[in-house]
Amino acid sequence: MKSSEVKKGLEGVYVTESALSYIDVENSKLYYVGYDIEDLVKYSSYEEVCYLLLHQRLPRRGELDEFVSKFADNRVLDDKVLETLKFVARGKDVINTLASHILLSYQGETGEAAIDPVRARAHGIRIISQMAILVANISRIRRGLDPIIPDRSMSHAASFLYIMRGEMPDAVESSIIDDILIMHAEHGIPASTFGALVTASTLSDLYSAIVSGLLTLKGPLHGGAAEATYRQLLEIGTPENVDKWLTKALESKRKIMGFGHRVYRNYDPRAVIVKEIAIEVAKRKGGRVKELLDISLLLEKEGVRRLGERGIYPNVDFWTPVVYAALDVPVDVLTAFFASSRVVGWVAHILDYWRDNRLIRPLHKYVGELGRPYIPLEGRY
Ligand code: CMC
Repeated sequence: MKSSEVKKGLEGVYVTESALSYIDVENSKLYYVGYDIEDLVKYSSYEEVCYLLLHQRLPRRGELDEFVSKFADNRVLDDKVLETLKFVARGKDVINTLASHILLSYQGETGEAAIDPVRARAHGIRIISQMAILVANISRIRRGLDPIIPDRSMSHAASFLYIMRGEMPDAVESSIIDDILIMHAEHGIPASTFGALVTASTLSDLYSAIVSGLLTLKGPLHGGAAEATYRQLLEIGTPENVDKWLTKALESKRKIMGFGHRVYRNYDPRAVIVKEIAIEVAKRKGGRVKELLDISLLLEKEGVRRLGERGIYPNVDFWTPVVYAALDVPVDVLTAFFASSRVVGWVAHILDYWRDNRLIRPLHKYVGELGRPYIPLEGRY
């Protein structure tokens, strides 16, 4: 049945079927392939979650070991790759740098060959395992440091922190980064996944589809929200300023970063988990991090009081800035780090979509005039 109703922002529109994740809005729950993310955060690892999303089942011991080993192999960036990285890292924006690098390192196929599931998945694993390593090294290069490659034995999360800071993280810090990676790995069809699917649906290659996802994620309404929330905390400055700042922001119709979500109408389940982590790390770190937490706690309380009845609550990106500050992750890589986790969701959705590909081609409803007379240039006033 054809309908000419316009769904602005495609709100409430289903574009495909998928068993990859389920958001239970009523009960504030998120499941990957049927597993509650609370359990995955507690018992699993980012590598295992990647396997789960790419194969739509949990791995057996040997399968996980092999997968982890593939991750480690892909982390070893050769000299040519590092040279390119040094060149593109001069760019102003980390996401654009990352996108340029992925496009330059393109090694895949196009057309029918690109959608061969085995080959596409192998390329996908390569990009997934390299992305966090690239982000951390881009950050080093931007800070005037040489890129480094972590030891094969390190987990994905530990490798990221090790490269970022140039020293071994402790087990608690690595586990926190692992939790954050798990929580950002997949979330249905947000703008970035849709962007990736639009590109993939034309039978363009996986690398291009991922870059579409990456560039779509960047905006502050989506993946750029953590960075924007962090800057918002700096702007508020002190806990005493929260109330005054919030009143002024809402009066001027400004959006409160880290609040609201297109799908959730109450608490984002990921935000509940990250809030607990934020409280823990702030206790451990103290000082300015504790102050950022205090600002966040007050902003949460006042924000929920004033916006909660409209279904606007803190989302996952409300709490992550406190955690990143505690782990000394610089603000300019927050969005790219989110992307380095979500890339597995993009790859999983693309592979899923290619099983029964159909070109994505929506319509606009024309509201202009027809039959206007063409007036030559000299006759226009
Ligand atoms: N602060 C103040 N007002 C808000 C907010 C907010 N954060 N979010 C929505 N509203 C208001 C908005 O001003 C509008 O009011 P009115 O009807 O009076 O014009 C109304 O709620 C509907 O807003 P909308 O933008 O059309 O709603 P949406 O469902 O498209 O919102 C959103 C989703 C995420 C774009 C929005 O909540 C927002 O801009 N939030 C801030 C940015 C943010 O934190 N994004 C991260 C999302 S979670 C991470 C991810 O998965 O990407």
